[in-house]
Amino acid sequence: MKTTQLLLAGLSLFIAGQALALPDGRALYIQNCNACHQFQGAGGIGLPLNAAKFRDYSDDYLFKTIRNGRPGRIMPAFQEMSDAQVKAIVTFLRKRTDTKPRAYDPSALAGDPTHGRKLFEKHCQRCHGADGQGRGEGTGVTLSRKRAFLVMPPAIANPGFQAAASDRLIQQVIRVGRPQSGMPSFARLGLKDQDTADLVAWIRKLGKRVAKRPRIAPDEPPSHVVESPYDFDTTVANVKQALVGANFRIFPDRYLEQGLTDEFSVNQRQIGIRFCNFNKLYDMLKIEPRLGVVLPCRITIMERANGKVLLVVPNLKVVASWFNNDQLLALWKRMEDTFNDIIDEVTL
Ligand code: HEC
Ligand code: HEC
Repeated sequence: MKTTQLLLAGLSLFIAGQALALPDGRALYIQNCNACHQFQGAGGIGLPLNAAKFRDYSDDYLFKTIRNGRPGRIMPAFQEMSDAQVKAIVTFLRKRTDTKPRAYDPSALAGDPTHGRKLFEKHCQRCHGADGQGRGEGTGVTLSRKRAFLVMPPAIANPGFQAAASDRLIQQVIRVGRPQSGMPSFARLGLKDQDTADLVAWIRKLGKRVAKRPRIAPDEPPSHVVESPYDFDTTVANVKQALVGANFRIFPDRYLEQGLTDEFSVNQRQIGIRFCNFNKLYDMLKIEPRLGVVLPCRITIMERANGKVLLVVPNLKVVASWFNNDQLLALWKRMEDTFNDIIDEVTL
């Protein structure tokens, strides 16, 4: 008798432990997704996550979307989460939308991309862009976006979407549309199954084109270090002159160690020059308000013990990639050209 009781007690403890060990999908959602998708899934910066569309989605699509994100389109890749955590979020979303996953035949559709392209240009391009990258203004942008669309049309050529969605899932979305977000049902508008298969074939081609474009290498350094041929004071003066010449406003100098040690011990041969072009900055802040915390407009000049003078310039490509926003990346490429010009002017 006693042993059975003990066994039972042990068993229930074991079960309770298992329940505790399961990740809490609701909490994970609130922590990781809420800010962009909102609690009721209304969407905002992110797309709506509502029942109407969840009926068309497989759990595999949701799992992969969360795991891989949408590179360059704000939606992060949640790669540090365990499989169990991602699954818990999917389970939570299923419960909240009260929907069941839809299963798709995973085999590819046979479609004619040439015909698909014609249909795409006629029916889809005005919203999703000729290259399927979603039309410019305001991907996930809150301040600058034009309000022409209730919901920003997503990038369907994006590698994250392409890897997550099977052919037949894409076909289903095209058939039924997203009427609540302004995308019509193309079955209603008269497209036959062969037409939608042709569209899928073209969308896959667009996806391959995007995938071929180089993204930033994982070992790209966060800053560039360049040696100056001049002494410290001349280098500082040259940098300032070049910046003013390029229409930047310069803020008062800051020693690198300022505030970190008492004013007599500060190394005065390490200086950060902070500068700004307000027009450029304003364009960037419109795209990404969070930029305010990492303003990249700084060149650090330091004199080493051996007398060498080094210029340290942030690698804007890397800083921009933290924000997962291709629109921002494009603006920063221009900024980077200016940086390179300045460094050339100072060191040549
Ligand atoms: C920083 C904002 C942001 C966060 C955080 C975020 N998302 Fe997204 N999400 C987006 C954007 C933006 C898109 C659409 C991408 C596009 O426009 O191409 C998206 C798309 C999606 C989609 C595809 C919807 C569809 O209809 O195909 C799903 C599913 C999704 N997100 C789930 C999640 C989940 C779950 C989390 C949390 C684990 C999350 N997202 C966190 C911004 C975000
Ligand atoms: C009037 C604008 C509009 C048109 C026209 C339009 N779409 Fe969309 N599409 C959208 C919007 C907005 C969404 C996102 C809806 C949502 O998530 O609620 C979307 C979503 C999608 C998705 C799902 C992508 C994802 O990340 O979940 C696919 C695939 C798609 N559209 C393909 C097409 C194709 C193919 C055509 C042409 C036959 C087309 N769309 C025409 C606006 C449009």
